[in-house]
Order: sequence, then C-alpha cells, then structure tokens
Amino acid sequence: MEIEFVAPSKVEDILGAIAAWSFEGELTPAAADLDRAAGGAVARAISGGRFKGGKGQILELLAPQGLAAQRVIIVGLGAKADLASSAIEAAAAQAYNAAKASGPERLTLLTADGSATAAAQAALGVRLAAYRFDRYRTTEAADKKPSVTTVRVVADDPDSAATAFGPMSALADGVIFARDLVSEPANILYPAEFANRVKALEVLGLAVEILGEPEMEKLGMGSLLGVGQGSRRESQLAVIQWKGADAKSQPVAFVGKGVCFDTGGISIKPAEGMEDMKWDMGGAAAVAGVMHVLAGRKARVNAVGILGLVENMPDGNAQRPGDIVTSMSGQTIEVINTDAEGRLVLADALWYCQDRFKPRFMIDLATLTGAIIIALGNDYAGLFSNNDELATKLLAAGEASGDALWRMPLPAAYEKQIESMAADVKNVGGRPAGSITAALFLQKFINGLPWAHLDIASTAWKKPSAFPTIPDGATGFGVRLLDRLVADNYEA
Ligand code: BES
Ligand code: MN
Ligand code: ZN
Repeated sequence: MEIEFVAPSKVEDILGAIAAWSFEGELTPAAADLDRAAGGAVARAISGGRFKGGKGQILELLAPQGLAAQRVIIVGLGAKADLASSAIEAAAAQAYNAAKASGPERLTLLTADGSATAAAQAALGVRLAAYRFDRYRTTEAADKKPSVTTVRVVADDPDSAATAFGPMSALADGVIFARDLVSEPANILYPAEFANRVKALEVLGLAVEILGEPEMEKLGMGSLLGVGQGSRRESQLAVIQWKGADAKSQPVAFVGKGVCFDTGGISIKPAEGMEDMKWDMGGAAAVAGVMHVLAGRKARVNAVGILGLVENMPDGNAQRPGDIVTSMSGQTIEVINTDAEGRLVLADALWYCQDRFKPRFMIDLATLTGAIIIALGNDYAGLFSNNDELATKLLAAGEASGDALWRMPLPAAYEKQIESMAADVKNVGGRPAGSITAALFLQKFINGLPWAHLDIASTAWKKPSAFPTIPDGATGFGVRLLDRLVADNYEA
C-alpha cells in the first residue's frame, strides 16, 4: 500500500473511496464541501440517523449523485474542542479499514483543516492500520486481500505534509518491525535468526553486537544460559547502541525478554494455547522496534537496547525444577519452576546492562506473567518502578502514546515469598501477587539503578483488537511508549 500527499483537487472528480471527518454535530469544512458536491447526500444520510460525529462513529454512502467516487466514508472525530491527534489517527485508520474491505483500490482522505500535521497524523493511522502479516499465505483469494493499494492524503502543502510525516513514518517502521518479529512463528524466528534481523539494522546507523553462548559463559550468565540449555537453538544476547548525542551523555537503556518460544521447559505448559508462546519475545521486539525508531528519526539521545534471546524447551539437557544457577551478579537462584524463565533471562540481561553501560535508568519490557492479564485485562501493561520520577514520566508517555500503563506496587514485605531455603532467591513466589513477586525478583538484579519493569503479557498481542490502528495479533506495544518517553524527556 502506497501513501501519497496530494494538493486539494475538485472532489467531484476523485475516484475510488473518499473519506472525510465530522465533529460532533458538525461536518468539517472538507466534508461539507463533499456534501455540497453530492447535492446534500451526506446531510440527508445523517439526518434522522444515529451518526452524530461521535468519536469512532462511521457512516458509509454508496455512489452518491454528483461524485465520480464509488463510496464516501464519514468518520466521527468527537467534540471539536478536545480534538486529539489520536482521534485523527483513529479516524484515518477506520476509513482505511472500511475501504479495504469493500473493493476500491484508491482511498482519498480529506483532512479536517488541510494542515501538514493533520495530514501526517492521518497517514500514520493508515500505515498502522494497514499492517498485515501475510507472508505465509500462498492461496488467499484476491477478493479476501485488502483492495486499497493507494491512499492519497489531501494537504494544502503536500511537501510540508511529507516532511511532517518523516518522524511519524520512522515510528511506523519501528512498530511494524516489532509486529513482524512478534508474528513470526518460532521455527523461523529462533534466537540466532532474531539476532540476524537485529544485526541488519546496522544500515540505519545502529551498532549491534551479538554474544553467543561461549561469550555469555565467560561473563558468568548462568541464569540466562540455564533457560536455553534445553534448546537445540543457541541462546544469544543482542546489544544495540544508538549514539545520537554527545559521547559524554549517559545513555538510556531498554532491556527486553526475548523468549522465542516458551514451552515452560520441564515445568511444561498445557497444549491448549501454547502456540501463543511464540510471542513471548514481545519485550525484545519492542526494544528492537524503539531502537529502529530512534535511529530512523535520528533522535538526539544515546540509547542502549539489550535483548535476551533464548528458547525454553524440555529436553534431556534441560534445566530441572530445583536446580540452582549462579547469575552474573553472583547471586544464586533456585529454579523452582522452569516456566518462570523470563525473569531468569532478564536477571543477567539487566545486570550486564548496568555493569557495562552505567545508564541513567533501565526499563525492561517482558511478557512476564499470566497474572498481569488477570489483574489488568488487555488494555494496560503493568508498570513497576523503584523511582517515582521515572514512573511518572512513563505514565505520561503512556497516555500520550496510547500504550497505556497502570502502576503496580512493589512492597518489600512480599519479598518473603521469593526467599529460598537453598539459594539467595527462588524464581517463583506462589500464586498471590504473581506479577509483583516477579518484579521483586527482577529488582534484585538492577544494582540500585533507577529502573522500571513493564509487564506487557497483557498487551503484546490482541485478538480481537478494539483499536483501529492495531490489527488483530501483534500490537508492537511499547515502541510508541518508549519513543514518546525519549522524545518528551531525554533529547538534547
Ligand atoms: N511467558 C509466560 C507468561 C505468559 C503467560 C504470557 C500467558 C502470556 C500469556 C511466562 O514465562 C510464564 O510462564 N509465567 C508463569 C509464571 C509462573 C510459573 C510463576 C505464569 O504466568 O504462569
Ligand atoms: Mn514461562
Ligand atoms: Zn515466558
């Protein structure tokens, strides 16, 4: 699908589908113009109907007299007074979603005010909505594929709209990169293949190092390596650096759980739903995605992304419940349940990150616990932090980006639940507060740095998705959030 920014032209002559917006109770000027050209057909369709221009409402007209277009789509933006950029994105996405299923090859979007920003926001909404993971569908009928191949966004000054779209397009590239990683099945995307795809990002100006098992053994990463030892696929640690600021400026750091497939290991999961565990690398995908964005839009910041890439398999060489491993930090861990593997991977990835980079803070992202889904449902990721300032900034970035967070407590008293009789700590704390004890475990591996843990098990995958910019499946959750956090707080 191609996106073009075009100058206004006679609406009568536009072919394919035309979309325009309506505020609550009031057509935008572009929609009113469309209505005039169609001899009042839009107003007639609205009168007496339920469409009022409320946020998310949609109205479709077929081949109105006076227009060359096959269909007209009017999408509600809600109240004019509190128009948010997300409403424009969502409206454009809804228009695309409606048009792609109905036949036209071309969709023309008439934005509310013709401004470069509004046009760019609409284009972003379309790009995110048009995401589709179809590379393994070889027999899909043509009439089941999206019909729209070109989206034209009308702007008074198409060149400045294209310029405004630059950083947003970089954002979309990063989100889509993350969604692709999450969508790939685990027979294709195993740790070394994940590492290859990240290594390929060097063309964007990122520096990428890949550590294999011998290097990690030398570093003493017994906790991460224990998880991967039952797999035929070699564990990897990817270290991604973006140097967009002065060399002396302390980096921000993101650490991702990259369990390419989580069978549970010897503590094996039930068969039903196990296929979902191909997306147990959603944290690592989000970190790779945000590094993609930072490089793509040349952000003025130094950033580090660390990905712990493993496969958790049962095997003759797999780790057993009761095994005790020594982490890079020197702390020993009793592995009570081999299915609580994400925290074991992050323990060494976090320690490595702070030890090597001395970042100003670390944020880890992980599809860590089923319990966070029970606590928060699918519209919030859990935020755990030892630092109120970082937590506040993250919550704000969550609101602004749409990647919503809800802060959870980190009560020291619950550490009792992860005390081990035989080692320094154990890797599970029982069913009560399962997401919290997981976070408390991670906190033992941050060496006192400002840190936040995002449990994205609730948000990495949505089926069904209720958001027009997020098709069913991989969401890319975390990419927009972290990009926004950096843009609003940490760029020189
Ligand atoms: N990857 C899972 C968490 C998960 C479960 C994500 C369901 C998405 C959907 C994680 O490795 C895991 O298995 N966690 C266990 C921890 C338990 C053994 C303490 C869980 O949540 O059941
Ligand atoms: Mn698990
Ligand atoms: Zn897992």
